[in-house]
Amino acid sequence: MNQTLNEQLLDFIHRSPSMFHAIASIRAELDAAGYMPLLETEAWHIERDGKYYTVRNGSSLIAFQVGRDTQNCSFRIAAAHSDSPVYKIKAAPELKGPEEMLRLNVEAYGGMIDSTWLDRPLSVAGRVLIRNGDAVETRLFCTDRDVVLIPNLAIHFNRDVNKGYAFNRQTDLCPLFSAGKLKEGDFDAMVAGQLGIDPKNLLAKDLFLANRQKGCVWGAAGEFISSPRLDDLQCAFSALRGFLAGERENGVNVFCCFDNEEVGSNTRQGAMSTFLKDCLKRISGCLGLNSEEYARAVASSFLLSADNAHAVHPNHPEKTDAENRCFLNRGIVIKENAAQKYTTDAVSRAIVREICEMSGEPYQLFANRSDMAGGSTLGNLSNIQVSLHAADVGLPQLAMHSSYETAGAEDTASAVNVFRAYYRADLCIENDDKFVLRPSAGLKGEKS
Ligand code: CO
Repeated sequence: MNQTLNEQLLDFIHRSPSMFHAIASIRAELDAAGYMPLLETEAWHIERDGKYYTVRNGSSLIAFQVGRDTQNCSFRIAAAHSDSPVYKIKAAPELKGPEEMLRLNVEAYGGMIDSTWLDRPLSVAGRVLIRNGDAVETRLFCTDRDVVLIPNLAIHFNRDVNKGYAFNRQTDLCPLFSAGKLKEGDFDAMVAGQLGIDPKNLLAKDLFLANRQKGCVWGAAGEFISSPRLDDLQCAFSALRGFLAGERENGVNVFCCFDNEEVGSNTRQGAMSTFLKDCLKRISGCLGLNSEEYARAVASSFLLSADNAHAVHPNHPEKTDAENRCFLNRGIVIKENAAQKYTTDAVSRAIVREICEMSGEPYQLFANRSDMAGGSTLGNLSNIQVSLHAADVGLPQLAMHSSYETAGAEDTASAVNVFRAYYRADLCIENDDKFVLRPSAGLKGEKS
């Protein structure tokens, strides 16, 4: 059973070489489950017992399932992110030389481990804007083969490379595009050719390098799963599956996948944008909630911010806290930070614990070493626009921001069960001090 789910996860990630493709992969699952697309630019008509989603910028998505009953309405939200650290190709894509060679001109999107991108064939993926008559249209683009590679410098030219080497992103990381057969302009010609359009109708591009290496389950005992973009597509996939299995009778279930987490979320479609607030307000308006009822709904709502966590590294256990640390294959991680980079507090931790116990799945607690700044994520940033009870969770993984990351083969299934329990549970937040949490009928003991 786990194997099948892992294969589905790896397939989902393989179909998602850019944030735009990740949203397309999520849309495909929502379409298959009968969710209706809504455009932000059009009037919304939302019915009780209906299922909908909307997309901003092609790279962020919010799906919601409205219960039959919206008396004492609240929102049950989970949010993950669609983007991963990667190199973006600049608008003028080619660097000429030396001699007849062509390289691509790239810059970093987010904080990747540079060395993991070298010496591996890479493809190009993202979106392009094309002219079609008097309209300008967006098309997804992904080369169907590997087209570039960033070659390392031979050790003979860089004798100290094994003592640690700082890659210069302007000079060391330019992908090789041609040894001489292609000429300047052929990158855009390749893109236009694959799309079957005249290159003069190619107006603009948001294109990124992509590692097409397929993910796999590995290990003598099949304990590991490795793939590009596990951060954060593993959480996006798990939360989505839980959402699709978690229909609720009362209130509104919401699934979010935001772009731009890796560059700070402060964009039109990022977690710091008004996207979630705009959606919740529109849903409330369509359901006939007045502003007083909307404020009450938000006050009794909950957000699970889902982004992968650092598992104890086998060669560097000293990098994690001695006790508040997590391991592969021991289930979902509840993250905490005194400075509130993670939203978890005692109230939300208690709720997540109860949900994990209700689902029959294990959970782990994570906090950074007190002498090390950890990463940040989208939960506290999302709370700037819509302030909710919230907790930060994630799945344990190794080598975060490598172009090929590793996680536990058992954790995805466990997370799906937790998200499903979350979306199904009867959670009533009466005030800041008291909540009531009951499993929905038939939940206990059920497994995905
Ligand atoms: Co992440």
